[in-house]
Amino acid sequence: MRKIIMDVDTGTDDAIAIMCALAAEELDVVAICSVNGNRGITYTTENTLRLLEYLGREEVPVYKGAHLPMVSTLPAWRRPEVPYGGKEFREMEIHGDWLELPPSVNKKAEDMDAVSFYIKYLSEAKEKVTIVPVGPLTNLALAFRAKPEIVENIEEIVIMGAAYAHGNKTAAAEFNWWCDPEAAKIVMDCGAKITVIPLDATHKACVKGSEADIIEAGGTKACLAAADMIKQRIRGYSTFQPMGDDMAPVHDALAVLYMLDPQVCEDVRPMYVDVDFGGGNSDGMSIVDVDKRYYDREPNCDFAFSANREKFVALLTKLLKAR
Ligand code: BDR
Ligand code: CA
Repeated sequence: MRKIIMDVDTGTDDAIAIMCALAAEELDVVAICSVNGNRGITYTTENTLRLLEYLGREEVPVYKGAHLPMVSTLPAWRRPEVPYGGKEFREMEIHGDWLELPPSVNKKAEDMDAVSFYIKYLSEAKEKVTIVPVGPLTNLALAFRAKPEIVENIEEIVIMGAAYAHGNKTAAAEFNWWCDPEAAKIVMDCGAKITVIPLDATHKACVKGSEADIIEAGGTKACLAAADMIKQRIRGYSTFQPMGDDMAPVHDALAVLYMLDPQVCEDVRPMYVDVDFGGGNSDGMSIVDVDKRYYDREPNCDFAFSANREKFVALLTKLLKAR
């Protein structure tokens, strides 16, 4: 079994990614770290807790992480909207503040914070672990800054973030990297084996409303919650970022499913990927060196340029029905 730590800003697609990871026999979710992102840390942590309680998986520890990006909120003009939670926020329909599940009653976050957890766990680990960050990369970057040698105990980092062709938060930048570009830069240059699952891949793996109906008919708690969330995402995307054909991406789940079957992604190539953190129009933009203009830099990741929609939806459906 592959040990993984998830790093989430839960969020509907984070929730579906967590459900898939917990259902997969090949994965052992040793912990989940929360981070500010889709919403403020209070929301993303509680959403993670209530999901675990709903699924009856309270044994998985949750560590509360960073409540702000590393530095990008310091100049007021740069990140006026962070942390989120305001009713005007354009992704409201895609995520909402709270997951539509009962609030957690018994499940609590651990006393230790997420950054301290990474440092302790990775310093003491006898076995390498894979990290799966599907939100802003703040927690991991802070841990690397405090104790860089912990990278040696990381098997791989599978990141949902970045974009080559176009962004979603801005024309240039994908949301997770836009939230904390400095953190993305630190993690991308940390020296670990990294796979990046960007918008280029997740937008090719949209789930249709009719497929959400099939998932719902699977009848498990995970199926019912995930189907509801996918339908919420389709409504949100139809309003703000139409994908056509009554469908929406479930970004974060693709990163988890890639670990189970790499064929859900296509055109995965070694690439040097940089991040703009200049604070201007292209802040948070991933700079993907497809033409090798950075002639002196070796690839720092495998970058997925596409995905196989049918394989993704089939595996997603199977996992959600599994438990
Ligand atoms: C990413 O941004 C968030 O809104 C999603 O949860 C996903 O991780 C997609 O850009
Ligand atoms: Ca996310």
